[in-house]
Amino acid sequence: MIKKDLLIINAAELVTCSGFKAKYGEEMKNIHTIKNGAVVIEGGIIKAVNTTEEILKTYNEEDFEVIDASNKCVLPGFVDSHTHFIFGGYRADEFAWRLRGDSYMDIMERGGGIQNTVKATRDASFEELYNVGFERLNDMIKLGVTTVEGKSGYGLDLDTEIKQLKVMKKLNEEHVMDLAITFLGAHSIPPEYKGKNNEYIDFIIDNVLPVVKDENLAEFCDVFCEDKVFSVEESRKLLLKAKEMGFKLKLHADEIVTLGGSELAAEVGAISADHLLHASDEGIKAMAAKKVISTLLPCTAFCLKEPYARAREMIDSGCGVALASDFNPGSCFTYSIPLVFAVAAIYMKMSMEEAITALTINGAAAVGRADSIGSIDPGKKGDIVILKYPSYNFIPYNTGINIVEKVIKDGNVVVNI
Ligand code: NIG
Ligand code: FE
Repeated sequence: MIKKDLLIINAAELVTCSGFKAKYGEEMKNIHTIKNGAVVIEGGIIKAVNTTEEILKTYNEEDFEVIDASNKCVLPGFVDSHTHFIFGGYRADEFAWRLRGDSYMDIMERGGGIQNTVKATRDASFEELYNVGFERLNDMIKLGVTTVEGKSGYGLDLDTEIKQLKVMKKLNEEHVMDLAITFLGAHSIPPEYKGKNNEYIDFIIDNVLPVVKDENLAEFCDVFCEDKVFSVEESRKLLLKAKEMGFKLKLHADEIVTLGGSELAAEVGAISADHLLHASDEGIKAMAAKKVISTLLPCTAFCLKEPYARAREMIDSGCGVALASDFNPGSCFTYSIPLVFAVAAIYMKMSMEEAITALTINGAAAVGRADSIGSIDPGKKGDIVILKYPSYNFIPYNTGINIVEKVIKDGNVVVNI
């Protein structure tokens, strides 16, 4: 049987998030909804969006595989624009220690934390990382995520960093999920370079970045700019070099202390600055002025029992905020989009409309893809989520529960619960 194109009709609430670039400040509340909406997807690409009545004047139901979305809310696929989903081993013991009072940084300084995962990731084979990554992507897509950003950073040597990146490259080719790949060689100082930060930065610049570039293994370069990790100066040196080599830039910025990572992101023209729990007023202004996407990771603050990032001040200052999971084995072992959404809406003073923008078009912008994903607009990829309820209000209301009923990826129904 020849596969038919897809027609979604009768959507109680069709949320288009219409737009081809990030939304900043006030614009974030404009998500554009159509009552009784319909979407036509041909050859995997969105062809038309309108009310069902209008669409059926031009298109014939018989020519399509029809999805009746009566009583359902329809949204663009979510973009999880910050994850560390490829790693070996687990750190459940550290999680238990944190609940007993140890801080994330205490554990890191005792040689646990990222170093622990580095050891397990160095020991893991390509196949092991590929298989576990494949399963994690299967879980993420069920939550309505259709594009995932993934970072290296658990190798901290040439071979393992390249192994992590190649695993993601292969997953991007073989799994239905789309991946945006980031090189995060400057995630921590490996034991071999203890106390020699500058030498490690030089090693990355001279020995690793050129291979990543030549083999086209990553689009973005990220750095953990943090007290006791990489200073603003060390981060700047790496980022400027990476920019010169053609990478787009990201930063883990102002996560644990106010260090100036947000300002640095603005200075170097980063596409996003992420975490930002302790971003200063100046940092917020600088991100808004330079249109750096401020990527907030509510579940990390939740799991670390840290204060939430100042989403309200950021949006009111004109920032473009994205929300993401930060899924990783240490600070945030969850890719729960329902929990991200609920925490943002309940504790971070983001309206539901702002949270939707942050998980769709602004997430897309944070991975440089606002022109092709993140909204239901003609010309974009047919990446769509159908909820089992008639309104997006149900996302935080049915707190922490997955209410996704169908996921359409490139015009194909890939999840049908
Ligand atoms: O984004 N902050 C740095 N990196 C990760 C945590 C990595 C880990 O603990 O393994 C984060 O929270
Ligand atoms: Fe992170």
